[in-house]
Amino acid sequence: MRVLGIETSCDDTAAAVWQDGAVEASVVSSQADLHAEYGGVVPELASRNHQRLIVPVVQRALSEASVHAEALDAVAVTHGPGLPGSLMVGLSFAKAFARGLDVPLVGVNHLEGHVHSVDLEPPVPPRPFLCLVVSGGHTELVQVGEGFRYEVLGRTRDDAAGEAFDKVAQLFGLGYPGGPAIDRHAEQGDPQFHDFPRSRLDDFDFSFSGLKTSVLYYLRDRSDADRERLLDAHRADLCASVRAAVVDVLVDALRRALRARDVAHVAVVGGVAANALLRRRVEALGAAQNVGVSVPPLAYCMDNAAMIAQAGAKRLGAGHRSDATLGIDPSLQL
Ligand code: KG4
Ligand code: ZN
Repeated sequence: MRVLGIETSCDDTAAAVWQDGAVEASVVSSQADLHAEYGGVVPELASRNHQRLIVPVVQRALSEASVHAEALDAVAVTHGPGLPGSLMVGLSFAKAFARGLDVPLVGVNHLEGHVHSVDLEPPVPPRPFLCLVVSGGHTELVQVGEGFRYEVLGRTRDDAAGEAFDKVAQLFGLGYPGGPAIDRHAEQGDPQFHDFPRSRLDDFDFSFSGLKTSVLYYLRDRSDADRERLLDAHRADLCASVRAAVVDVLVDALRRALRARDVAHVAVVGGVAANALLRRRVEALGAAQNVGVSVPPLAYCMDNAAMIAQAGAKRLGAGHRSDATLGIDPSLQL
């Protein structure tokens, strides 16, 4: 079965062609430069750009896969969660395209797409496994079972991990998106330079707003000149200290969940799974606890349509279909 995947839930316009477990093409057109000017995603701009880009991005995916649209057996599309105007562009396109080709359409939960991104490259993790879904919009710890069974153990009570990186990066004058910039600087810094707070909640929930506030106060209580001097001299150390605080919290939750659950495998997915320290620490946790670890290649951590095509193909294989009345669901949960 060959599936076209469409993903437009936030600011990336993505299309992919997937056939029987192999990704034939995965195209992502990032709008990051456009939104950088505003320090974050501007929803209205994002949807307008999806509208401009969706046709060329799909055309490029088909051409990179060397297939005609008539070779597609189905269309899978993200219908939530995400920005309403952005989701609407992808879904409207997918509906019309599927109808024109007379092939089935299936709506995919963006978070399910991220979870199943671990299956895009072998080895496929055994079920059940513990999955940390960490992105700009989500931080969830999920036990993933066979098929489409998900048990959410915990989620963030305020900011998502990626959002925390993005907001702190802005305070450090590093632009948007901030996660990759903090990660890059942190590689040269001392994580013990400053002890930023690690929120440790009783259950598996997360909270990152305290960290952001703490960075804000740390910088605010200085004169402009002093702040500039500090950032110039210690930007890498501050990035390393913040990165360590976020990663400590994430890895600690995974470690506690491993103790509480009878699973032999962990995975980390979503944009923040690109974080170099998080990847190293989760690998080390796996080795220490003798459990398997899956972290997708960088291209499949960030938003992409290959993960949507694949999750959609699994749904189609299980007999799921969406009809022409499928709507967007901006706050869809797993
Ligand atoms: O999954 P994703 O592409 O989009 C959402 O669904 O949100 O994740 C984007 C998020 C942004 O917050 C970005 O700052 C963060 O992932 N991110 C990183 C890194 N690369 C991307 N955070 C930390 N370290 C990175 N290397
Ligand atoms: Zn995402």
